[in-house]
Amino acid sequence: MRDDSASVLGIWGSFRQCASPSVCSDLQQSDYKLPGASKWRRLCQQPKYVSCVALALGLILILSTVLVNEQMHMSSFLDRVAASFKTEGLSVNGTDGCDASRNLSSNSSSDLPDNSSSCRQAADDIPRGMVVATTDLEMRSLYEEDEKKLQKAKKKNLLAMAVGIEQKQVVNDIVQKFPLNSFTIMLFHYDGIVDQWQDLAWSNQSLHIVALHQTKWWYAKRFMHPDIVDQYNYIFLWDEDLGVEHFHADRYLKIMEAEGLEISQPALDPASVDIHHRITRRHPRLIAHKAIYTKTCTPKNKAVPCTGYVEVMAPVFSKAAWKCVWHMIQNDLIHGWGMDFKIGYCAQGLRSEKVGVIDAEYILHKGIPSLGGPHVNKTILTQEDSNSVNHKIGSLHDPRQEVRKKSSQEMLAFQNRWEQAVRDDPTWMDPYAKYAKVEMDHINNRAVGAMH
Ligand SMILES: *[C@@H]1O[C@H](CO)[C@@H](O)[C@H](O)[C@H]1NC(C)=O
Ligand SMILES: *[C@@H]1O[C@H](CO)[C@@H](O)[C@H](O)[C@H]1NC(C)=O
Ligand SMILES: *[C@@H]1O[C@H](CO)[C@@H](O)[C@H](O)[C@H]1NC(C)=O
Ligand SMILES: *[C@@H]1O[C@H](CO)[C@@H](O)[C@H](O)[C@H]1NC(C)=O
Ligand SMILES: *[C@@H]1O[C@H](CO)[C@@H](O)[C@H](O)[C@H]1NC(C)=O
Ligand SMILES: *[C@@H]1O[C@H](CO)[C@@H](O)[C@H](O)[C@H]1NC(C)=O
Repeated sequence: MRDDSASVLGIWGSFRQCASPSVCSDLQQSDYKLPGASKWRRLCQQPKYVSCVALALGLILILSTVLVNEQMHMSSFLDRVAASFKTEGLSVNGTDGCDASRNLSSNSSSDLPDNSSSCRQAADDIPRGMVVATTDLEMRSLYEEDEKKLQKAKKKNLLAMAVGIEQKQVVNDIVQKFPLNSFTIMLFHYDGIVDQWQDLAWSNQSLHIVALHQTKWWYAKRFMHPDIVDQYNYIFLWDEDLGVEHFHADRYLKIMEAEGLEISQPALDPASVDIHHRITRRHPRLIAHKAIYTKTCTPKNKAVPCTGYVEVMAPVFSKAAWKCVWHMIQNDLIHGWGMDFKIGYCAQGLRSEKVGVIDAEYILHKGIPSLGGPHVNKTILTQEDSNSVNHKIGSLHDPRQEVRKKSSQEMLAFQNRWEQAVRDDPTWMDPYAKYAKVEMDHINNRAVGAMH
């Protein structure tokens, strides 16, 4: 191969040198004094047809070498691609192998850089040292900055909320409970209003994202990819209608760590509206709890929501858990209903151990239905007591009713997709298969109940 190209280069060189008599004569007169120089000089002095034959031969050789080169290059490229799949034990079916494939780096802890996984392929085109696989949400200065200071000031946790200007006061109250030296605040403005937040002291250091009439989960899927929020140890993905009088984020995280929780939520003050599942209700004498015990929820019963449950209203995720949950969020199912029953699968261990409700730091669910869904008309809201969500108000265009209906449909769709995915993936073993039926029935009842 090397020899071939060398000889081709030689002929190419001779062609170049002799293609035009003037070049040749220039060469003759110049200080071009390689050993073979006199030979080339003689060739140049041959009658024209000799030059033509040499030229044609040269062209043919060049062309064929280029083709051979191309083929070899192609085949080695394909080999490389195939090999990289083989070495990772992946099939070349479907995805690029980067998506949620199990066993591809079964030993790598999620905190280690993932350079051994097949996802490296995407970055194989550039030198490894230039690959920056993750990023952060820190704002940078336009001017020279002290990198050391910047690293030190890096925030450790994230509070993300979908907000509307009508809840400005409540949102401000919530943010006050999150120390700004360790939390990044990211607001998703579903009503499109951003500038009216600017008077709040923390607003200019926070991230503001606008997309009209979208939900928390829609935003989270799009703007909180694990590689983007990689810097954060804990992620709070909260609704805005929460009373935080008895909540402090720093104390909360200390408890979460001490209890070994990967997914948690603050307990709900019993005065909250809409406590859907008893497990989220506050036990005044406990610091945290991971299960409830009732007639049906016996200590042996580890089905959701007797244990392993948090609501989608105010969840808190560890970095590792979020990586999993992000993958579970479906692009088109924007209300997040149904995910609460599956969230325990992301617990990085037994869901009865790693998922819990923290009682010592608790919140009040105010039940203002402004989840960033279609803009809710305030007049309609005041007409209807928010406690009685099933209460029909007679308006055919009650947006809340519509949102509720879609949420329930999404919950069923999510459940159906889950079942289908389980059927389609024989490599996946359900650690909670024993409870699958009970939980499915629970979800179906809830969805049907919510639709009427
Ligand atoms: C790849 O896809 C084909 C067609 O969908 C399927 O028959 C085959 O079993 C798949 N191979 C693997 C290894 O999953
Ligand atoms: C994945 O790993 C588990 C245990 O590490 C093993 O039992 C299973 O067979 C593996 N699956 C595949 C598809 O290699
Ligand atoms: C995982 O680690 C164990 C022990 O550390 C080792 O024996 C095994 O080969 C490793 N598996 C993979 C896929 O690297
Ligand atoms: C991954 O990258 C890190 C840092 O560059 C390096 O220390 C480590 O050895 C790499 N691991 C593998 C499996 O290549
Ligand atoms: C935030 O920035 C805007 C625009 O520069 C400015 O008008 C506003 O006063 C700032 N707010 C605070 C609290 O500093
Ligand atoms: C809200 O609904 C009331 C009654 O249906 C209507 O009169 C009013 O114009 C609506 N307001 C907005 C902002 O859509």
